Amino acid sequence: MRIGHWIIRALCYVAVIAHTYVHANDAQQLYQSCVACHGEQGQGNTALNAPALAGQYDWYLQRQLQYFATGIRGSQAEDTHGKIMVPFAKSITDEKQQQALVTYISELEPVTAETDIKGDLKNGSRYYHGKCGACHGGQAQGNTSFNAPKLTGLDPQYFLRQMNHFQLGIRGQHQDDKWGRQMAMMSKTISDKELKDILFFISEQGE
Ligand code: HEC
Ligand code: HEC
Repeated sequence: MRIGHWIIRALCYVAVIAHTYVHANDAQQLYQSCVACHGEQGQGNTALNAPALAGQYDWYLQRQLQYFATGIRGSQAEDTHGKIMVPFAKSITDEKQQQALVTYISELEPVTAETDIKGDLKNGSRYYHGKCGACHGGQAQGNTSFNAPKLTGLDPQYFLRQMNHFQLGIRGQHQDDKWGRQMAMMSKTISDKELKDILFFISEQGE
């Protein structure tokens, strides 16, 4: 009886370990369908308009995958870049698979974006802390409590496109996009000049 009990327990452990192993492997496998655009290390590819994903929060990544898959993001006619993502998000809608994949990506080494944007660091810091830092964190590292993603590592082209899309209602307009709506509201309070300085400040934060 007791021995039987221990055998069952041992089998359970083996099953759990095998399961975890399969999941880790699964994740790497799943990520192979993202590599062509987001890069082997999740470093992104500016020429393909694909942002860096490495080191981003898992909950943020998963939310975006769900948004793309359900039309909350990428379904607007003008969102030509978001549309590219839709079929890939739709190919991974199993929650367990999604979770394994986003955990894998969040554990990749974060990158620093190449940028030739120059701005006024002092003003950038002032604007950033006044208008963005409360949600995105003092060093643009993101803030889980406010559902706000990390902003470091995003290339300027992607960053500015998102701000523009938030301003024009191409992102953050859908009725189920609770968090995007907050950001859309914020985006309308920033001038282009302020944004350039903010971007410069963020690029100086590194990792
Ligand atoms: C054919 C190219 C391509 C492939 C393959 C691809 N993506 Fe993307 N992905 C993009 C583009 C382009 C964007 C930017 C969309 C935009 O500008 O709004 C994007 C955006 C994203 C975002 C949003 C990032 C953010 O900061 O909000 C996530 C998350 C993402 N992709 C995950 C994935 C995952 C996971 C896979 C693999 C299952 C994948 N992508 C495959 C092109 C691709
Ligand atoms: C009230 C809180 C709040 C403030 C203030 C705020 N944001 Fe956001 N921001 C968010 C949230 C939440 C998201 C995630 C939206 C989503 O899940 O789609 C976001 C998303 C973003 C994104 C998209 C990131 C990506 O990977 O696609 C950018 C860029 C951004 N914010 C920049 C800024 C800048 C610049 C400022 C200051 C001018 C700012 N935010 C102020 C809450 C905020």
